[in-house]
Amino acid sequence: MYDQIERKVAEIRAEWEKVCTGVNTPQELEELRVRFLGRKGYIPRLFAVLRELPPQERAAAGKLLNSLREEIQRELEALKEKIAAKAEAERLKREAHDFTLPGTWRGVGTLHPLTQVRLEIERIFMEMGFDVASGPEVETDYYNFEALNIPQDHPARDEWDSFYIGEGLLLRTHTSPVQIRVMKSRKPPVRIICPGRCYRRDNPDATHFPVFHQVELLWVERGLTMAHLKWIIEEFVRQFFGPGYEMRFSADFFPFTEPSAQVHIRRKDGPWLEIMGAGMVDPAVFEEVGYDPEEVTGFAFGLGIERMAMLKYGIDDIRLFFQNNIRFLEQF
Ligand code: PHE
Repeated sequence: MYDQIERKVAEIRAEWEKVCTGVNTPQELEELRVRFLGRKGYIPRLFAVLRELPPQERAAAGKLLNSLREEIQRELEALKEKIAAKAEAERLKREAHDFTLPGTWRGVGTLHPLTQVRLEIERIFMEMGFDVASGPEVETDYYNFEALNIPQDHPARDEWDSFYIGEGLLLRTHTSPVQIRVMKSRKPPVRIICPGRCYRRDNPDATHFPVFHQVELLWVERGLTMAHLKWIIEEFVRQFFGPGYEMRFSADFFPFTEPSAQVHIRRKDGPWLEIMGAGMVDPAVFEEVGYDPEEVTGFAFGLGIERMAMLKYGIDDIRLFFQNNIRFLEQF
């Protein structure tokens, strides 16, 4: 009987040695464990046979079986670690990053040329002591026209043909309504600029676009004259453009200024480009906002930001600012 057990143990050990080398996954390992050590596995089955052995043989056979069981348990444990280590190594390899690969270049953007020009204009006037004000782009007929001395049927309305978006509401055609809003909310003296977007029903061409930007300036105080206006503009143009530019100051008409002027700029011998309308605030406007025209005078202008950028950078088509063409924008 003992011999039989001894032979069986040798067989099981031989089979174990044969199969244990081919295990690669945790599932395969579990199958082996069940086959050798599970409740109905080889070894427990052999332990059951032990009970039938005569007592004097049982101890020796038990020892033999126990050592086989321990051996297999130990090796199963070792195999488990080996398989886990292999899986871990594979995972690390799969997830590895190659830090020697060149990176993906993400270019750093620049500000849009219109933004750059606006910031430069703001800087110059802030240094002269002007505040930056703002107003809504959707404006009422009252602020955009009426309060600026442009009544309902005034022919000057043709010049500011607009986009109407409802009863008495329109996209503002200039930044001048901000003059009214500021004067109605502050007592003189007032010294503000207001940069902002404006809209007109213009057909796009090289110098017109239905969306564009202006900077409004307004200075109201006791004793201001046309000479102050002219000085401010000249000083601004000098700072903004530097040498190599010419300026032309000529008469114009606006219902909300009297007298009114327009300013043209050209680079070297290039074409003249109108950059702003300007003038002394009309007494009718002062009366509308509750200022006393006998007490204060003032002046205002509306400057086209696109025109300034075109002159500064030598751009001959305003539409380029609105096409989002990276090759154009990258140059600034
Ligand atoms: N608002 C005028 C325009 O858009 C410009 C202007 C502003 C003229 C202020 C005079 C005074 O044409």
